[in-house]
Amino acid sequence: MLRGHDAVFVKPQTGELILTSQENSIVLHPLWLRERALNSDTLDPITKQRKYEHSLFQSDLKVLEAKISEKSKLDIYFSDSFEGHFNLDQIKNEIGWLKDVESPPVLESWTASINLKRINWECLKDPSNLKHMLHNFLKYGFCVMENTPTEKDSLLKLAGKFGYVRHTHWGKLFNVEIKRMPTDTAYTDDALSSHTDNPYREPVPGIQFLHCLENNVSGGLSTLVDGVAIIKQLELEMPEHSKILENVNVRFRYEGPSAILENWGSIIERNHNNIINRIRLSNRLDYVPALDKKTLDYFYAGRKRLNELSNHPNYQIQFPFKKGTLLMMDNYRLLHGRTKYNGAEGVRHLQGCYTDHDGVTSLYRMLSKGSKVTSVPTEL
Ligand SMILES: [Fe+2]
Repeated sequence: MLRGHDAVFVKPQTGELILTSQENSIVLHPLWLRERALNSDTLDPITKQRKYEHSLFQSDLKVLEAKISEKSKLDIYFSDSFEGHFNLDQIKNEIGWLKDVESPPVLESWTASINLKRINWECLKDPSNLKHMLHNFLKYGFCVMENTPTEKDSLLKLAGKFGYVRHTHWGKLFNVEIKRMPTDTAYTDDALSSHTDNPYREPVPGIQFLHCLENNVSGGLSTLVDGVAIIKQLELEMPEHSKILENVNVRFRYEGPSAILENWGSIIERNHNNIINRIRLSNRLDYVPALDKKTLDYFYAGRKRLNELSNHPNYQIQFPFKKGTLLMMDNYRLLHGRTKYNGAEGVRHLQGCYTDHDGVTSLYRMLSKGSKVTSVPTEL
């Protein structure tokens, strides 16, 4: 059966469906299709959840007949007497023949030459501006916003626009300022080399926010580096070392007065599409297992080079925080740090918090489908 250049045929021996277009052809399993039927008596129209147990389907299910009608409708008759209704474009989205409008953009690596744009907080009341901002966040891994409200703890509301604030043993918010008894180097005026936050936590926080309430010191510039860019460089220079950093699981540990936290993971990680999308680099907290000499030689040399790249001016951007600046960064992909400052010079007070990634991706998907939402749903 034909629609435009699309056609469907049944393979009688196996009961599979062959779908062809001008450029492509694919053979689809009967059960794969059956689970995608849109019939209102088998799929809840509001929640889009199935109303049945797919384990009850016959394992030898077959497609008996199929036809494409107008407006991308596909009807399939199965050997268990079920007549399923399908949306052909939806199937083509899933198998990659059509671009899925709601899919987050592909990430793009960047170096120090990136043009740092700052977004006015007020603009984000407009859904189209918000979608554009989220698009860039998903593409580059960070966003710098200005002129945000600066009442104490207002970060809870600001970050709450993009996700649900993660409560940790430091509370919902942490105050980055000089402390008399620091439990982390962040609470001093020392420089912080490029790092990812909390690799010892399970799960590792997805997105970090840093919000400036006051800053009247001259140093203390915030730094950012794209982990994907430095891993690509390492792969070019030292491919075997890079593989070791991908294959060896490292123990990350934090031990403080109120918590002992441990988690394991590789320094370099790929996603399900085999694309590098995650880095764990925290040179005060990592403990590699006692492996053989050759593996550890490669591990240490690769990690050393990755550390050098993560603090190299070709890859690192530096920018000042002023009152009302809000930095939002992907803690799985980006490394952050700060330059040294002199605490005797004045006050530098930031507040920070974490959220997961799914608030941002959900907002982006909703806006891509035409919704006018401007924040994730409020916590009850
Ligand atoms: Fe940090």
